Amino acid sequence: MAPSQKIPVIIDTDPGVDDAAAILLALASPEIQILGYVVTFGNTDQEACYRNIFKLYQAVGRHIEQYPEDKHRFPNFDASAKPFVVKGASRPWSAETHTAEYFHGRDGLGDITQRHPDLNVDGLETLSEHPYLRVSRERHVAEVMGALRAFPPRSITYIGLGPLTSLRHVHHSHATEFQDLIGRVICMGGALDVPGNTSAVAEFNTFGDPEALRDLIEPRGNEPRLPIERFLLLPLDITTPHELPFPLYKKLVDPTFHSTEFPSKPEEKPPVHHFTSSFMERSRELMLQFGKDAMELHDPVTVWCAMQNPPVVDEVKGGIPQLRPGWVAMRRKFQVECKGEYTRGMLVVDRRDDQGAYAPGENRAHVQAELERLKIAHGAFESSALPARVEVEDEAQTESIGDGDGVAVLTETPGAVALVNLLFQRIWGVEIP
Ligand SMILES: *[C@@H]1O[C@H](CO)[C@@H](O)[C@H](O)[C@H]1NC(C)=O
Repeated sequence: MAPSQKIPVIIDTDPGVDDAAAILLALASPEIQILGYVVTFGNTDQEACYRNIFKLYQAVGRHIEQYPEDKHRFPNFDASAKPFVVKGASRPWSAETHTAEYFHGRDGLGDITQRHPDLNVDGLETLSEHPYLRVSRERHVAEVMGALRAFPPRSITYIGLGPLTSLRHVHHSHATEFQDLIGRVICMGGALDVPGNTSAVAEFNTFGDPEALRDLIEPRGNEPRLPIERFLLLPLDITTPHELPFPLYKKLVDPTFHSTEFPSKPEEKPPVHHFTSSFMERSRELMLQFGKDAMELHDPVTVWCAMQNPPVVDEVKGGIPQLRPGWVAMRRKFQVECKGEYTRGMLVVDRRDDQGAYAPGENRAHVQAELERLKIAHGAFESSALPARVEVEDEAQTESIGDGDGVAVLTETPGAVALVNLLFQRIWGVEIP
């Protein structure tokens, strides 16, 4: 693909186990050009998240040094086109800070800091000269606006993988210009018709900073909201059915992949394999407690969606973003709960006009059943090319919305198998037999 056809992207992230997989996918994807990383808080505190970018780059750097023939697999790992890395927001807009250390570990990567000191970057992240990154000392708002001004209007996609606080800062200070220049905003966040994954009702990113999302999508005072035709949300409803079965990873990538008790050994395998096995050891143990031997690919789906669906110049104002075949979005209306004692970060759907919603729980159960149906069996694929799709419970709910109202939500992808194949090919260079 000619460089001019690449989609320039900015990745807003709080790495995080599934963020790390998503960034590896981005580095290995020729459809996009990574302009920069805005590092926020979330899966763990911002400092640790920031260090994780450098850990990831160190692992890929070592890999390419050891296996120069793999360089072509990581087209975005390019010393002549360094992305910026900048610290964004370190705490939510106004709510209290909550991180997800219980799941991602103190360091965000399953506590590899202690188990795998060979992957640490002590001091590296404080150097101003990095061979593959432009370490920014600017404020993130300046970096993001600088990138937007340097590219043709509406060509850049902003990918949100964590709480949206940093984007909220950019939008708050440059709303009109940002809206003139941004191509697309594609974000992972929220849970609509399925339970949350951080509380009973909230997904982690919306839980982390509910107000940031609310202020971006609901008009408030004189501040315009993000244009509906250029904003796409990927809630847990659609991301959760995308899983990487750990037994398959073990079989195809790293037969020695095991557990925190038997940690990954550096000398036995290529550096990228060692890195991914190291940060997934703890996730695997935790996921097994949740009853599944697989990693959920929330952030990788989001990057995949962004690379497959470039900004469209003649987008219909107030419509939903135009997507490529295999990808479907629908308009949904909801409100973001910002203050609830038990419901912070919940996406509140008004189900009163929804006839089907009167049997309590019916729709959620239906959607769960659909998710079960789509789920990949542990360790093996049941079907080869099933699209991942969620049934939206109520068409009426979408009809009653006026033009420009609501939010475009992704409801269908080409399927988990396609994504898992892509990850195996691109990140680890293996084919599913
Ligand atoms: C919840 O979803 C977010 C999606 O961004 C993910 O990062 C996080 O790991 C998930 N947490 C759990 C406990 O599955």
